[in-house]
Amino acid sequence: NLQPVILSGGSGTRLWPLSREKHPKQLLALDGGESMLQATARRVTDVCGSLTVAQRLIILCNEEYRFITAEQLRDIGLEDQTLLLEPVGKNTAPALTLAAIAAVNQQDDAILLVMPADHVIANKTAFQTAVESGLEQAKNGAIITFGIKAHRPETGYGYIKMGETIAEDTIYAIDGFVEKPDLATAQMYLDSGQYLWNSGIFMMRASIWLRAIKHFNPSMYMVCAQSMTNAKSDCDFVRIAKEDFSSCPSDSIDYAVMEKLNATTDLDIQACVIPLDVGWSDVGAWDAVWEVSEKDAQGNCARGDVMMENSKNCLAMADSRLLVCLGMEDAIIIETPDAVLVTNKANTSGMKQVITRLKAGQ
Ligand code: GDD
Ligand code: MG
Repeated sequence: NLQPVILSGGSGTRLWPLSREKHPKQLLALDGGESMLQATARRVTDVCGSLTVAQRLIILCNEEYRFITAEQLRDIGLEDQTLLLEPVGKNTAPALTLAAIAAVNQQDDAILLVMPADHVIANKTAFQTAVESGLEQAKNGAIITFGIKAHRPETGYGYIKMGETIAEDTIYAIDGFVEKPDLATAQMYLDSGQYLWNSGIFMMRASIWLRAIKHFNPSMYMVCAQSMTNAKSDCDFVRIAKEDFSSCPSDSIDYAVMEKLNATTDLDIQACVIPLDVGWSDVGAWDAVWEVSEKDAQGNCARGDVMMENSKNCLAMADSRLLVCLGMEDAIIIETPDAVLVTNKANTSGMKQVITRLKAGQ
């Protein structure tokens, strides 16, 4: 039985001014259609449609976003899902631990398919094939990751070293996992050709994740177990109390377990990677939004009341007034009622510093 788990707790601040604390990236409809959360929910229900899937998705989000999350799901015909509400964000490892405990409480040791809510996958069929090809190993107790062919020395990703072949062209053992290396290391990994980017999608039995987290971070497990015991059900919402969860250590799946799994011999859990060639993007910055968006013959992508004139490869989004883009190339212009961003594709990684300064009120 496959149990989809959607992690929908981040904020995606680099997509300012569209993403805000009150309006995180996964809830935005960047291509003008459905939000990334909706696309993810639809993808897992479709993919899982051909497999035996749990009746309800498990979705984890901050309690602040419960209504908009439930509404977005209802809008695509997915009511009655299990929404686990975190009173504070403690990153992905506690979120997955809560989900694994919920899954074990609901049914026998299901296989969890863990999906970030804010990624784009262009080719659903190829994604489904990849998921299917990992099921056997996951059933047998492995933790499956999905790896993307690296094409730049990105320091915001995890790097997975491919080891011996488990099944030709589909699944490999993992020889090493390094989360967010520095630039020189990332460049070395890229040059070696032996590493894949971690997509952030995972598949494993609920009990296997719980075993791993108990081993590497017993206090995280304890707090999560306590939090789930005291959680209150309220319609589709499962509310975690702040008194229980606020003392939880904060860590990501990648640092808390994946990096350590390979380095230890006293926990007998195999880590595997399935290369994923499915048009994946985590849409981390504005240049990535342009990349995944539909464009006209000049490579422009315009949303809202936008006039493009003599411009090439631009992204322009107008929210509240007419935006004219004349004689621009590679420009990114994002207009909202109270803030406008003007930059170009080569500079979007600098948004991190901008956000830091905005937060500091500079
Ligand atoms: N429910 C919940 N609670 N979800 C969360 C929380 C939380 O506290 N924190 C993050 N998430 C969600 C985010 O919304 C996102 O969908 C996903 O979990 C991953 O979190 P990010 O914060 O975006 O992680 P990252 O981008 O730094 O790194 C991860 O993704 C990369 C690929 O995009 C890692 O898995 C990397 O190894 C990977 O390369
Ligand atoms: Mg991310």
